[in-house]
Amino acid sequence: MSMSNHDANYTLGRTSHETTRLIEQSKIYGETTRSLCVRAGITTGMRVLDIGSGAGDVALTVAELVGKTGQVVGVDINPAILDTARQRASDKGMTHIEFIAGDARTIDFDKKFDVLMGRFVLMYMSDPVSALKQLITHLKPCGIVAFQEPEYTLYPSYHHPATPLMNQLYRWILDVFEHSGAHLDMGMGLYRTFIEASLHPPEMHLQAPIGAEDKWVGYRYMATIFQSLLPLIEKYEIATVEEVDIATLAERLRAEVLLSKRPFFLPFHVTAHARLTD
Ligand SMILES: C[S@@+](CC[C@H](N)C(=O)[O-])C[C@H]1O[C@@H](n2cnc3c(N)ncnc32)[C@H](O)[C@@H]1O
Repeated sequence: MSMSNHDANYTLGRTSHETTRLIEQSKIYGETTRSLCVRAGITTGMRVLDIGSGAGDVALTVAELVGKTGQVVGVDINPAILDTARQRASDKGMTHIEFIAGDARTIDFDKKFDVLMGRFVLMYMSDPVSALKQLITHLKPCGIVAFQEPEYTLYPSYHHPATPLMNQLYRWILDVFEHSGAHLDMGMGLYRTFIEASLHPPEMHLQAPIGAEDKWVGYRYMATIFQSLLPLIEKYEIATVEEVDIATLAERLRAEVLLSKRPFFLPFHVTAHARLTD
């Protein structure tokens, strides 16, 4: 995990397309998040802090688990996305979720939490260890810490000669995230981050959605990732709009799977959870 003094450029942008993409992403990775919450011990009546809450997907999942006797506070540095999150919570009648705009590392809260969690957020912070050290001060004794972050550095070992398009897409993803300053290895880096923040060694899991069937949602989802990444791909001169060719991307991926008989996988996600040391 490289360290700089600056947070990463939020690689995927702040457009309404990106808000929609985050909601779509949650349909694909939501089950991993729910399992993490259950394994970590999140249950009825708990008070949970969700950092980098985005369009509210993690907060909505957690709100179901903690019920109305619990409470969820979502924090995001992008105030605009919280309008969507608040609307979604209200549509579901979830009055026990609150969203606050601000940098999660500097906000003060009047009450302590049972759980600190986040999904795809530490990867954008310049120093995840100091962020975590600061954030766990908001926890009650023996509080739970649970994070889900992507891991991009495993890709090169999965390159296969029969899947040139898939290989190319992952090279572009690695390039753009690297240029942006995001931690490409935040998933695996969760282990070091937890122990350097003086937490117990976390229980960890690695998962990636994989598919090959004709109607698999992953092809279209990959195209939506590239639509969000495209401005930075162009800015860093990694590839041109024509080379990425978003309009045909999902179809070309589907064709490559048919031809190569190799299923296509989406980015790996690592989950980690632990309790505060006594
Ligand atoms: C990839 S999105 C993930 C959103 C949500 N957790 C999800 O999984 O759907 C990352 C979010 O973290 C927010 N973010 C980044 N740095 C932050 C910080 N220091 N404090 C609060 N939010 C932050 C961004 O604005 C963005 O909405």
